[in-house]
Amino acid sequence: MSATSIKTSTLKAALLLSAAYLGSSVPALASPFEVLHWWTEQGELESKKTLANALKINNIDLEDFAIVGGGGDGALHVLQMRALSGNPPEAAQIKGPDITEWDKLSMLVNINDVIDTASWRAIFPQEVLDDITVNQKYMGIPINIHRVNWLWLNTKIFKQYNLQAPETWEQFFSIADYLTAQGVNPIVLGGTSWQDALLFESVAISQLAPEKYIQAFVDFDNQVINSEEMVNTFKLFKKLHRYVRTEQQGQDWPWASQVFINDQAAMLFMGDWVKGSWTVAGKTALKDYMCVPAPETQGVYSYNIDSFVVFKKVTTEAQLSNQKTFAKTLTSAAFQHDFNLLKGSIPARSDVSLAGFDQCSVRSATDFKQDSKVPSFTQNMATNSYQQREIIQLISHYFNSETMRAEEAVQQLSVLIKALTSK
Ligand code: GAL
Repeated sequence: MSATSIKTSTLKAALLLSAAYLGSSVPALASPFEVLHWWTEQGELESKKTLANALKINNIDLEDFAIVGGGGDGALHVLQMRALSGNPPEAAQIKGPDITEWDKLSMLVNINDVIDTASWRAIFPQEVLDDITVNQKYMGIPINIHRVNWLWLNTKIFKQYNLQAPETWEQFFSIADYLTAQGVNPIVLGGTSWQDALLFESVAISQLAPEKYIQAFVDFDNQVINSEEMVNTFKLFKKLHRYVRTEQQGQDWPWASQVFINDQAAMLFMGDWVKGSWTVAGKTALKDYMCVPAPETQGVYSYNIDSFVVFKKVTTEAQLSNQKTFAKTLTSAAFQHDFNLLKGSIPARSDVSLAGFDQCSVRSATDFKQDSKVPSFTQNMATNSYQQREIIQLISHYFNSETMRAEEAVQQLSVLIKALTSK
């Protein structure tokens, strides 16, 4: 093949790929587009590559503004500083009620003004649309749905000890104590406050059931916050503290993910972004790990929707065209398929084929359709990140305190929520 024909075929391939992601013509010049996110772990990096590639073939160079830290706490701080100094990136990974907070500052682009969103009502589930809608306007670009209330089981250890997946907390504790007696680490917990809170979230769903969970963590209903069920939630949560090990201190979720997949722990509570890190390690669903809803949360789906907002900073035609390309690329079926295959999540669009997705993703998609759905309060879905941070700190403080009682934690939560919501 001559150099010219290689070039021509490469160009053709690029155009075909581009058409798959965009379904339209390509702007002439490649230009940088800075995006803030917190995808810095191996699996996240792989999925982010599909984003960079999809943008690249549409002539946009993704410029990473990546801040380490699972859950995005650090990233959101840095974004605030950049925005305050009048220099936000072109786009940022902002989700849930934070979209409304940023919209109040009049800094965000209305996505309806950038691309034609007429089809969105037909292709995105209501939860996804509600999540990115502010005053009847689409202010975010949704790309995926993560399930948070998963319990991951290490296949090798479960087989070796002939164990069944726990469905109740009683079964869970009996497996965990049995494994401990066998000298096996039953569960690995990360050592940051949001990971403590993620565990609490699953316990809360199991004890409060969807209606009261929403009343407590979305509506901030003081009666539910002060209820006996909430005290029981804190008590049960504390029982899990007996599995905390000193080496976990300060460790983020990638560490816990590795301990689990290297067969050094039998169980892990984590959202399904953790699956991305196992895909990179060559591990597969069922053979190496199994996924079940956290005990007593069957039929409930705690969701976390990743989305991006676009900042108003641009003025030129070329910059506006880049915004358009960014929004179109992220919402294309091809991109949502390829990205989510590696991310561990399912596409935000409900019309994307799940060809090639593993059984955990397929189950996630089925459950999302039929389960009761609750927004994950530990993943920015229920409150703004300022409120979320304070609540998470309290939950983690209680979990790690040797003296604080469940009743005290509930009382402090009630006082804290009153303070956070007073106008
Ligand atoms: C979540 C985010 C996921 C994943 C996770 C760990 O907040 O939605 O995409 O990256 O943090 O960093």
